[in-house]
Amino acid sequence: MKELDAKIQKELEEIYQQFFFNPLIQKMKEIPMHRGSNCFIHSFKVAKFAMRKAIKRKNYHLKAILIASILHDYYLYDWRSDRSKKKKHGRRHPFIAEANARRDFHIDSEVSDIIKSHMWPLTIKSFPKTKEAKLVNHADNVIATREFATSKAFKKKREQRYLKFIEKLFD
Ligand SMILES: [Fe+2]
Ligand SMILES: [Fe+2]
Repeated sequence: MKELDAKIQKELEEIYQQFFFNPLIQKMKEIPMHRGSNCFIHSFKVAKFAMRKAIKRKNYHLKAILIASILHDYYLYDWRSDRSKKKKHGRRHPFIAEANARRDFHIDSEVSDIIKSHMWPLTIKSFPKTKEAKLVNHADNVIATREFATSKAFKKKREQRYLKFIEKLFD
């Protein structure tokens, strides 16, 4: 990710770090997902993947992509241990995540829309309207598929490596 202006790169890294060390965001470590991954690792992997693609393709609203991808799964409950949430989790969690993000981080409407459409086509009416939303939707799919494709044991072994990898937006 070298093509970026140094000032913009610094600003994006600062935003990333602020989220990374925020105690509310750290709570996502307690939310398991995708065969032994957790919501924290998943979300920052999605953020890094989406940002790399967006910078390469140019003319994307990078700040919106960064914030939306970090917060896209900020639903803060374990649907596996909550029977009432289990059935509708796929379709509902984008809206729960968006409401939580609005409450805790005062996000703007662009970020809101990206979060709400990240599970499309599962959320039929909430579809990605912008290229930024399409990219986050795609990044989430790619990362989720990779997470499903690796075993729990493999992920456990790699956990420290994953945490190291997501420590910074730009390496
Ligand atoms: Fe999600
Ligand atoms: Fe996700």
